[in-house]
Amino acid sequence: MNGVPAAGKEASHEARALKAVETHHADMLRQLNGMAGLLTEAVEAGDANAEQGSQATLLDWCDRELVPHALAEEGPLYSGPRGKPGAKLLVEGMLAEHKVIVDLVEELRTSSGVAAAVAAGAIQRIFALHLDKENRLLMPFVVESPDLSLADAVAGLHELVGADEGQAVHHHHDHHADEHRHHAQG
Ligand SMILES: [Fe+2]
Ligand SMILES: [Fe+2]
Repeated sequence: MNGVPAAGKEASHEARALKAVETHHADMLRQLNGMAGLLTEAVEAGDANAEQGSQATLLDWCDRELVPHALAEEGPLYSGPRGKPGAKLLVEGMLAEHKVIVDLVEELRTSSGVAAAVAAGAIQRIFALHLDKENRLLMPFVVESPDLSLADAVAGLHELVGADEGQAVHHHHDHHADEHRHHAQG
């Protein structure tokens, strides 16, 4: 085995953490697709009330779910593989995508009509592409690296694993689950 094994790394914990993040990603994408679709429909129909409402709903979700998710990943989940030659470039590319997503959220905030629908569609497609890289490239790299642990990287971070798993995948970071329990409604 190369490197220093991550303390207490266990295959079952790694698999569970991977599944939890994949499930949370799928939930997020489903919600995003639904909200972006409603905004596009409202714009196509020329329904100003529906447009304002669906844009506000999507923007609120981006501020409460999408951007915090990206920022939480930039902690332990990205920093481990970023320090490895085999994943450094991937992580740098993914950080650049986070920035594009954050910029598109600002574009959504300050636009209306067709421009708002275009911003929403771009967020939707880029997030879908981005989470696929996380699921298929980044997280498997962490799981397969002897001295990194996905379970440790996501421990207690409900932004990454969803409200339920945020408490279940605590491993040896119980205090984090407690800190985050109060906003476990998302
Ligand atoms: Fe990400
Ligand atoms: Fe993600």
